[in-house]
Amino acid sequence: MAVLSERAREISGLGEEQIDHLRSLCSSWQVLADLSFSDLLLYVPVAGEEVFEICAQLRPFTSQTLYPQDMVGVRVTQPDQPMVERAYREGRIWAQKDPVLVDGTRIRMDAVPVRFDGDTVAVLTKEGSPGISRRLGRLERVYLDAAEYVSTMICEGRFPWPESPPGEWPRVGDGLFMLDRFGRVEWASPNALSSLHRLGVKQNVVDRWLDDLGLGETPVGRALSSKRLLDGELILGEAVVALRVMPLVEGREVIGGLVIARDVSELRQKERVISVRDATIREIHHRVKNNLQTIASLLRLQGRRLHSPEAKEALQESVLRIGSIALVHEILSEDVGDVAEFGEVARRIARMVGDGLVMPGRDYVIEVVGEPGPLGADIATPLAVTLSELLQNSLEHAFPDGRGGSVGVDLSRADDHVTMVVWDDGIGMPGDPLRVARLGLQIVRTLTDEMGGRLSITSEGGTRTEVSIPTR
Ligand SMILES: Nc1ncnc2c1ncn2[C@@H]1O[C@H](COP(=O)(O)OP(=O)(O)OP(=O)(O)O)[C@@H](O)[C@H]1O
Ligand SMILES: [Mg+2]
Repeated sequence: MAVLSERAREISGLGEEQIDHLRSLCSSWQVLADLSFSDLLLYVPVAGEEVFEICAQLRPFTSQTLYPQDMVGVRVTQPDQPMVERAYREGRIWAQKDPVLVDGTRIRMDAVPVRFDGDTVAVLTKEGSPGISRRLGRLERVYLDAAEYVSTMICEGRFPWPESPPGEWPRVGDGLFMLDRFGRVEWASPNALSSLHRLGVKQNVVDRWLDDLGLGETPVGRALSSKRLLDGELILGEAVVALRVMPLVEGREVIGGLVIARDVSELRQKERVISVRDATIREIHHRVKNNLQTIASLLRLQGRRLHSPEAKEALQESVLRIGSIALVHEILSEDVGDVAEFGEVARRIARMVGDGLVMPGRDYVIEVVGEPGPLGADIATPLAVTLSELLQNSLEHAFPDGRGGSVGVDLSRADDHVTMVVWDDGIGMPGDPLRVARLGLQIVRTLTDEMGGRLSITSEGGTRTEVSIPTR
């Protein structure tokens, strides 16, 4: 809905709260389109001009659209749409008395002022052809009645309900209960009844409370007494029906309620499977990390028994390399899904390398800047090893003879690649990086190639290594 807010801000004289009300209206108005079998258009008054601009459009799921074309951005004047202008000026709902013939279809239009905090801020139109050409069934009548209530609430500034629960709106077609003002079921749609059947309810539910079906407590009572939109569930074993309870309010009175009921049993089942799978993957990463740490400590032990400084150093470096890989698995074992926040990985590696190599009296605080976001293990692991090599190089080679300096890491992410820059302001590379490369830089080159990335090393007033990796 960013488009709606931006456009409304541009063209109208509306304040932020008013625009927010429109945004919130448009995130919950599908229920109105479906109940009224109508297309909805939102007309926002253009500041300083006698015109309205259509800033949002919605098609019904319950009926065919009258507007296959996109109407957003279209401007209308008073003579084009006298009802919109009147509804706006008078703050009253205007319903067309006689349907008009549009392209051979007879349609009806209602113009509903959208009120916020006492002011009319926009106009919503409902256009459709329900019941004009044929006799209405019970379902259509109930839907249309409910749509009238919702329209009145929009006009009185009571729709959308305050504080909608998060999550996607279920659809009216999923199943609908109409409640009386006490919260008793007055009518249930065929789909609503089917979902109750799946919960083992075979008896009649009309004139009963949903709470009395033996399927747990519902938020109906709370929703009607607090006039708020609330979500709840009916549960029997593995079968779950999600409920969204919408109190209908007229003036100060609660006059009834609507409950959209949606069978989410299968969805929940899938979620459970996914969450078990996620837990398993996390456990695997945890074990891999433990194993790597065991290997690292074995190498460390072995290093202590060696006498040759060169061999000692080689083992020490292997310990660090293994440590970097273990770190990625540790973070993967904490995160949900098979991704790791690479900013976090980089910060921990910077700390590990800094701590491991700091010589007495010389502190290296390696600053890591940027949040590249989550990366899959396939990229995070080699990139972590690369980072560790480059940081070790800066600390080891850039500042000989006790001179000081800075080392940093800049991370960034564009649409399709992630970029990591490791820099220092030390003495710079002693020659062509390709020629001087020993194992460390070779590892960096090989891993970058394997990830299909680009590597560039420049050496002016220090060393700057840029690694850019495609993420798709
Ligand atoms: N940031 C830097 N500043 C100055 N010189 C560097 C820097 N990075 C690398 N070098 C030079 O490039 C050489 C190659 O680096 P490389 O990482 O390949 O090997 P290394 O660090 O000497 O050994 P290792 O294989 O243990 O990493 C280094 O020996 C050093 O002379
Ligand atoms: Mg090195």
